[in-house]
Amino acid sequence: MEIRLWKYEDILSISEMEKECFPQEPWSFKMLASSFESDNFTGVLAEDGAEIIGYGGITFADDSADIDNIAVSEAYRHSGVGTAILNALIQLAKTKNIKKVFLEVRVSNAAAMELYLKNGFAGVYARTRYYSDGEDCLVMVKEL
Ligand SMILES: CC(C)(COP(=O)(O)OP(=O)(O)OC[C@H]1O[C@@H](n2cnc3c(N)ncnc32)[C@H](O)[C@@H]1OP(=O)(O)O)[C@@H](O)C(=O)NCCC(=O)NCCS
Repeated sequence: MEIRLWKYEDILSISEMEKECFPQEPWSFKMLASSFESDNFTGVLAEDGAEIIGYGGITFADDSADIDNIAVSEAYRHSGVGTAILNALIQLAKTKNIKKVFLEVRVSNAAAMELYLKNGFAGVYARTRYYSDGEDCLVMVKEL
C-alpha cells in the first residue's frame, strides 16, 4: 500500500467512493474538485497497485485544522488503511505547526469513533441534528 497526495485525475474515483462510503450525504465531484483547488486543503489517498482503496482530506486554518473526510473501500476495511490515512493527515498538520485537529463523526459511527479514539482524539461536544437526516454529530479534537 502506498500513501500519496491527491492528483486532479483521482477526483472522479474518489467521488465514486464517496457515494459508496457516505450514501446519505456524499460530496459531489464538484465539491471535491473545489476543495482540491483550495490552498487550505490537502488530500491524501491510499493505493493498492493502481486501485484507490481509501482517501482523506484536511483543511487548515491558522493554527487549527479540520479533517473533512476519511473513507476506506469496504473490501479493505479493518486492515490499517484508515489508520495510515489518518496518520498521514496528522503528519501534514504537524508540518504546518497546527495545534489542534478537529473532526465530526456521526454518533452512530462506532468504527470511525474507535479509530479516532485509538489515535488520540477525544470528544468535545455534540451538535444536535447536524446531518440532514437528523442524526447528531460528535466533534472530536486531537491536540498536537
Ligand atoms: C471508519 C473507517 C475509515 C475505518 O477505516 P479502517 O481502514 O477500517 O480502519 P483501521 O483498519 O485502520 O482500524 C483502526 C481501528 O478502528 C476501529 N475499527 C475499524 N473498523 C471497525 C469496526 N468495523 N468496528 C469497530 N471498530 C472498528 C478499531 O479500533 C481498529 O483497530 P483494530 O484494527 O486494532 O481493531 C472505515 O470503516 C470507513 O471507511 N467507513 C465508512 C466511511 C466513514 O464512516 N468514515 C468516517 C467518517 S467520520
